[in-house]
Amino acid sequence: MRAAHGRGAHPRERAVTAFHATYGRPPTHLVRAPGRVNLIGEHTDYNDGFVLPMALERAAWIALAPRDDGVVRLAADDLGQQGTFAIATARSRDTRGDARDPQGGWLEYPRGVAWALQDMGHTLAGFDGALASDVPRGAGLSSSAAVELAVAAAFAAASGFDWDPPAIARAMQRVENLWVGVQSGIMDQLIGAAGVAGHALLIDCRDLSLRPVPLPDGVAVVVLDTDTRRTLVGSAYDDRRAACTRVARELGVTALRDADADALAAAAKRLDPVDLRRARHVIGENARTLEAADALADGDVARLGSLMDASHASLRDDYEVSSPALDAIVGAARAAPGCLGARMTGAGFGGCAVALVGRDDVEPFVAATADAYRAATGHEARAYVSAAAAGAGQEPLDGTGNA
Ligand code: GLA
Repeated sequence: MRAAHGRGAHPRERAVTAFHATYGRPPTHLVRAPGRVNLIGEHTDYNDGFVLPMALERAAWIALAPRDDGVVRLAADDLGQQGTFAIATARSRDTRGDARDPQGGWLEYPRGVAWALQDMGHTLAGFDGALASDVPRGAGLSSSAAVELAVAAAFAAASGFDWDPPAIARAMQRVENLWVGVQSGIMDQLIGAAGVAGHALLIDCRDLSLRPVPLPDGVAVVVLDTDTRRTLVGSAYDDRRAACTRVARELGVTALRDADADALAAAAKRLDPVDLRRARHVIGENARTLEAADALADGDVARLGSLMDASHASLRDDYEVSSPALDAIVGAARAAPGCLGARMTGAGFGGCAVALVGRDDVEPFVAATADAYRAATGHEARAYVSAAAAGAGQEPLDGTGNA
């Protein structure tokens, strides 16, 4: 499928072309759900804290046409695979399969979405769909949240229910937590559902309130892919969540969001030294994220850049979720022309960093970063320059060559 449809084509075209090729007729709807990059606020979402992500132009797309027999057929262009399930078989969690199964595990994502949407009370119509994405997998850019949200948007288009971003995001988080079995927070699903073009979103992960903050024209957000993929991230992520819960309990607060540096210092002697450092990261990161949103709103990009630098140091030294490749690419980026700040982004242990760069310097910045990173590690960095995109939803089919 990949060879026939041209891997280099935009995923919007690939989804439409794959639909024609698979089903022999044109799609009636097209939906898109973006990946995301987090500017700051890392490992804070599951502490009821603050995050400042933006949706990326890279996205998962599904071309679809509704069916009236309660069946979903989906062709995954990136995998060259097709799968089918009856919506009625996704009414109970007892029917979930193994998402890690290399043969057909990917179908557990759409099945989990069908389960979570039905569990919210939606009556779902089936559809024939073709999925294509250009969000790199395992890179910390939320490729799986993008697929989940694209499937949810496909169900919304086929079934005609309203798109309520916080409710959809909560449901998609349940897909990750309860169907797929990954203990993620709410950030990826909420920014993907609610992103605002041209803006980063300050998200309060307790009440899910959103504050869009415009990105100034003079700067570019550059995602730097280390070309390394995270390993063992699940257990390390769960360990850190558990440490945060322990410290919150010890401090007598609901979540670390409710603690400040003084309360932590007062309890320091009672805490395990590693737990203390984990909590110090979260408490400091929440404060940095709030300050970063204000700095961005004021156009103070230099301040935002230094907060990003401080975030990286805290993630590396206190939370210990960076990696040699991430540290190397962040170091390379900071020494490159036009860099205002750089940090690892996402869960960590590999994947991507994010840099804030003066718009006029993007080209020399990317070249210098890639050279220095190659010299330090032997890896080829990839850079994705992206505007802040809108959240998931329906897109017009015209202009896709759809007959
Ligand atoms: C992953 C999770 C998010 C968040 C980040 C770390 O991306 O899916 O919920 O916890 O890690 O900030």
